[in-house]
Amino acid sequence: MLPETALSKSEPTSSLTNFEVKDEDLPAFSDMRFENINELHLDHPGASDEDYRRRRDYIANLSKNFRETGAITDVEYTEKEQAIWRTVAARLEEIQSRRASAFYLDAKEKLGIGTERIPQLSEMNKRLNKLCNFRLAPIEGLVETRGFLSWLSYRTMLCTQYIRHHSRPEYTPEPDIVHEAIGHIPNFTNCDFADFSQFIGHGARIATDEQLEELGRLYWFTVEFGLVKENGELKAYGAGLLSSFGELENAFTNNVERRPFDLKQVINTAYDYSDMQPILYIIPSYGYLKETTRKYIESFSKK
Ligand SMILES: [Fe+2]
Repeated sequence: MLPETALSKSEPTSSLTNFEVKDEDLPAFSDMRFENINELHLDHPGASDEDYRRRRDYIANLSKNFRETGAITDVEYTEKEQAIWRTVAARLEEIQSRRASAFYLDAKEKLGIGTERIPQLSEMNKRLNKLCNFRLAPIEGLVETRGFLSWLSYRTMLCTQYIRHHSRPEYTPEPDIVHEAIGHIPNFTNCDFADFSQFIGHGARIATDEQLEELGRLYWFTVEFGLVKENGELKAYGAGLLSSFGELENAFTNNVERRPFDLKQVINTAYDYSDMQPILYIIPSYGYLKETTRKYIESFSKK
């Protein structure tokens, strides 16, 4: 059986076992393997901007410190970076007020994620820690799938700290602080969502290569592009939707086929990350997602 948290609401309390991740349980970050991210891809809008590349490398190095010290280093963002945040956050906030889940909007406020300034991972980490025993860990770039997802089993999300290039505020080919703070982080204030994430993490640690691909699809159609039925209304909770003007608007148009969440179908549905998403899946609740995922991951060890 997978461990349960004491915070679960959807199971009878008699079947619960307390499960807490303590700081001393965390593996050493210095052991982690990374993809080489020293070179920006050519399609990155900042690829030929020397100043941008230097600044991105500088912030990436601050993030890297975490693996040696275990402490999150705050970034002193420049006025130019704050201006990018203000532009993107304000425009997203307007669309989100109509399209984002009420739970998400409330969580964003609780975490102090507003339109005025870039929030620091350290302050959001403190609040997440108290709410659902969840953590954030800075990372300098992309990590291979199994490594990235496995960290969720320690109730830890790896997050970048640098921000996208000013020439394309609506676009980034890689995760940045906008995607992390506006897309992912508020969801971890929901303990069912935090537990669900941890189950995905457990799965990633024991999955065969084929199962890992399935998990990647589950992550994509939920954590990144999930829709939820909330008080009879369709709302977005996926980070890829909530941090993108285009995807968030598109998700509610006739360009998209919106299907009820069906785990078997989701883990067998291919996706294309380079284009607007044509298919999205609707969960009935976070508790449902958590319990369905738990059963699915439990089946891994029986095969
Ligand atoms: Fe993401």
